Amino acid sequence: TPLHGFLEKLPKCEHHIHLEGALSPSLLFQLASRNQITLPQDDDAFSSHESLLARYAQFSSLDDFLHYYFIGMSVLVLEEDFEALAWDYFQHASADGVHHAEVFFDPQAHTARGISYTTVLTGFSAARSRAERELGISTELICCFLRHLPAPECLATFELEDVQASYASGFIKGIGLDSNELGFPPHLFEEMYQKAGKLGLRRTAHAGEEGPASFIASALETLGVERIDHGIRLVEDVELMRKVVASGTMLTTCPMSNVVLRCVESVKEVPIRKFLDAGVKFSINSDDPAYFGGYILDNYCAVHEAHDLTIEDWERICKHSIEGSWCNEARKNELS
Ligand code: ADE
Ligand code: ZN
Repeated sequence: TPLHGFLEKLPKCEHHIHLEGALSPSLLFQLASRNQITLPQDDDAFSSHESLLARYAQFSSLDDFLHYYFIGMSVLVLEEDFEALAWDYFQHASADGVHHAEVFFDPQAHTARGISYTTVLTGFSAARSRAERELGISTELICCFLRHLPAPECLATFELEDVQASYASGFIKGIGLDSNELGFPPHLFEEMYQKAGKLGLRRTAHAGEEGPASFIASALETLGVERIDHGIRLVEDVELMRKVVASGTMLTTCPMSNVVLRCVESVKEVPIRKFLDAGVKFSINSDDPAYFGGYILDNYCAVHEAHDLTIEDWERICKHSIEGSWCNEARKNELS
């Protein structure tokens, strides 16, 4: 990419990265062996690093990816496993020019396997402290709920004692909603989002990735979200797009993810230019970097190659990424 050096140096904020999606095949196999986790023996994809990466290159949908995502994270058992995972991501992010990262994790995917929320949180927290100390990057944690599970189960997790304690102590900045979108509309989670709002938690949700633009409208109206994760299908509803511009809601787009999961055919089809022209704020993110073939800088470069942005466009994207972050004003000023 002609502007590679420029893109590398740009001070980036990342808002859409699932820590479990930063699990590289090498860490996956290493932890499987150490924790004596048996990977599926009837799936040749797990026979080597190469075959696993080859399978990742052939995802047919979000659902197909999620199958591997949930198997992959089954190797995470000890506090130090969660720390190693997050530390691996923070190092990559810092090398890519990330100064501030707001990262997702899926507590239900671990508690369902008998791993305590405290184990997960303590491991991630250790990596965050180290990232702040050794890399100088600021980080926030966003606790995501799995929408393919019944809403009452999500609410029960949200209300667990140790989960509530992590909100009160400020370890968790906000909540999100992820996993399979089709068939699981936002309004099902209204009660949980209302409670989160009352606790002063920030709110976001995946919407308009595979699901229709109406899910974006519903996330805004029924869940009270301040950001929309993905949101690429917003372009299908011009009226709604005007509302999103008026409210200043930021989309956290993930261009390489959209291509790998076949939401679009190529990065050219991610509506970057339409968003810029309409004044829709968005950030550019990696989503699940270990599964989709690239970290944040690869996504910036892919967008640049496909959409031929100007330096002014990039400066605007970075400005919006800072404004849309959930750090305090003092930190925003440092990032600017
Ligand atoms: N969990 C991890 N990555 C996801 C994505 N792109 N969409 C929904 N849920 C996810
Ligand atoms: Zn995501």
